[in-house]
Amino acid sequence: MSESTTATLIRPDNYQFLKEYIYKESGIVLDDDKHYLLQARLLPVAQQSSLASLDALCSALKNAGNPPLHKKVVEAMTTHETLFFRDAAPFDALKTEILPPLLELRRAAKKLTFWSAAASSGQEAYSLAMLLLEMGLGDWNIQILGTDLSDQILDRAREAKYMQIEVNRGLPASYLVKYFEKRGMDWQLKDQVRRTVRFENFDLRKSMRTKGPFDVIFCRNVLIYFDVETKKQILRELRGALFPGGHLILGGAESTLNLDDQFKRVPAGRTIFYQAP
Ligand SMILES: C[S@@+](CC[C@H](N)C(=O)[O-])C[C@H]1O[C@@H](n2cnc3c(N)ncnc32)[C@H](O)[C@@H]1O
Repeated sequence: MSESTTATLIRPDNYQFLKEYIYKESGIVLDDDKHYLLQARLLPVAQQSSLASLDALCSALKNAGNPPLHKKVVEAMTTHETLFFRDAAPFDALKTEILPPLLELRRAAKKLTFWSAAASSGQEAYSLAMLLLEMGLGDWNIQILGTDLSDQILDRAREAKYMQIEVNRGLPASYLVKYFEKRGMDWQLKDQVRRTVRFENFDLRKSMRTKGPFDVIFCRNVLIYFDVETKKQILRELRGALFPGGHLILGGAESTLNLDDQFKRVPAGRTIFYQAP
């Protein structure tokens, strides 16, 4: 469908309203030409609530007394795309570059703390948990926190049950056999992995003073959705949530460049880590 056709399907003032609304609720910046995205994501939400159009949906949202609808709109506009061992390189480099000196440093306490800061349905946090188990750290106190803005996706993460198509993406077959059990059509992650990860709701735009300190933070494929000021604030807060010398791992299309000059860029294999002072 062409932009000009879709653009007629929501009034310009309502497009602006939705743009501001989504920004206020999640920090996600919607460009001015994303009519098709609104259509694809929000028309089903409107239809579920027996609203005939996006304009009708906006009227309902402006009518403040409908919290479930507000939640559904933010959920629908959020991208939860993720997979096990996404991009591979950060996990490889974590294993070969970051963990060896870190394990030396923490050998006495045998405790490591990690944060998957936009955890989606949990694959990132669980990939990390499996990698650490594979490295023989089963007798260490491993604490992995997974957080996300979306309660719906966090419920999925806690359930740790994945469809065949999801375990086919990125997960080595040996890990599937070792750490999952077949449940009907799905695969259930075993308790051995699940118990190292705790999930809770957290909006990255909030103060992180009560979080951490962490040895390593994964904050991947979420900064891209925010404006420059929000990115700067989040990076500053993440820096404060790391142990001195702790590492931040960003998504492949994200960096601290022109946003935060206090992180040290550390090339590691095919990826780059960002080390706190
Ligand atoms: C594309 S997923 C990335 C998942 C995983 N980190 C990865 O790289 O595979 C982005 C996640 O960020 C979450 N998110 C969006 N805005 C957020 C915010 N303001 N605070 C916390 N999480 C947010 C979304 O709900 C979504 O699950």
